[in-house]
Amino acid sequence: MDKVFRNVSIFIFAFFIGCEKKSPVVNIYDSKEYKSLTRKELNVGESIWATACFRCHMYGTNGAVLLDEKAYWDSAASKGIDELYKSVWEGKKGENGEMPAKGFCNLCSEDEIRKSVLYLFDLAKKVQAANEEQSMNNEE
Ligand code: HEC
Repeated sequence: MDKVFRNVSIFIFAFFIGCEKKSPVVNIYDSKEYKSLTRKELNVGESIWATACFRCHMYGTNGAVLLDEKAYWDSAASKGIDELYKSVWEGKKGENGEMPAKGFCNLCSEDEIRKSVLYLFDLAKKVQAANEEQSMNNEE
């Protein structure tokens, strides 16, 4: 009986430790990492974006989703940076096409890929805001 009790306690203990390690998912726009990005870090992300990500995500090449599709990117943002980073690092099959691992930037470091994802979400907000302004002007 004692042994069972001990095993159950160990199990419960291990369970709590396991939970603690897993950090909760935070929407990328609400994350500390995104909010505290410096200009320098954004520049790192931008240079990767311009060499690797741009050609698909700017024109929709290979089934990539354009930055002005607010609903898509807002819902992606809610997955949190860790999952999004993993999608890009390992590649991801989407509905209309496939993103290659590291977005084809084979020489990119983990840090560079992470910054490029953060940059993409920063840029998406700007593109969407510009579009909104334009459609408001068109209505006048
Ligand atoms: C060859 C084209 C291509 C390139 C290059 C590319 N992507 Fe993608 N990306 C895609 C496709 C296709 C999807 C999946 C779209 C879908 O969900 O239907 C995608 C999805 C994503 C997503 C959403 C992932 C998710 O889990 O929801 C992010 C974030 C992303 N790309 C960022 C990047 C970044 C950052 C780069 C540059 C390092 C990059 N992409 C380069 C094609 C590309």
